[in-house]
Amino acid sequence: MSVLSKRHVLGIGTLLIVLTVALTVGQAQVKKGKSRPLRTGQLMKGLVKPNCDGLKKGLEAAPASEEAWESLGLHAALINEASFVLMDDGRCPDGVWADAATKALRQGSADLLKAVEMKDYAAAKSSFGNLTKACSACHEKHKEKK
Ligand code: HEC
Repeated sequence: MSVLSKRHVLGIGTLLIVLTVALTVGQAQVKKGKSRPLRTGQLMKGLVKPNCDGLKKGLEAAPASEEAWESLGLHAALINEASFVLMDDGRCPDGVWADAATKALRQGSADLLKAVEMKDYAAAKSSFGNLTKACSACHEKHKEKK
């Protein structure tokens, strides 16, 4: 192989790498962040959904023990944390996403945490209602319908 064609091959190789990276980064938002491995689907399945289910179940009746309140606080704090992950690593594509994550999800879970601190069942339930508005608002635009 001549020196020239080796350079040629190297050039094409570099171009392919650049293209692949560009395409991957282009796809990265919404379904994945830019550099970290966690997919949005995994975040939902492993963190958001289980804790949302935990809250729903825990709020079916007024929590009757310290542990029950503690468990609500745990779920709410993890959902609150998820609202930050959703905004991180270049994942957020637009204002609909940002509002759902930083207003409905983050504020709803923060209000829920306050209600847990006060052991206020009615406030906890209404904060949970506000929190779940985030799910539908974001999914409406950004989750593919199956
Ligand atoms: C800011 C945007 C956003 C918010 C808020 C949000 N989601 Fe999602 N969710 C998504 C996106 C995007 C997908 C689709 C991911 C994909 O297909 O790669 C998704 C997918 C899901 C899935 C399917 C996951 C799977 O792959 O099995 C579940 C379950 C889910 N969300 C639950 C929830 C619940 C419950 C809430 C509210 C407590 C919520 N989500 C809030 C963006 C959001």
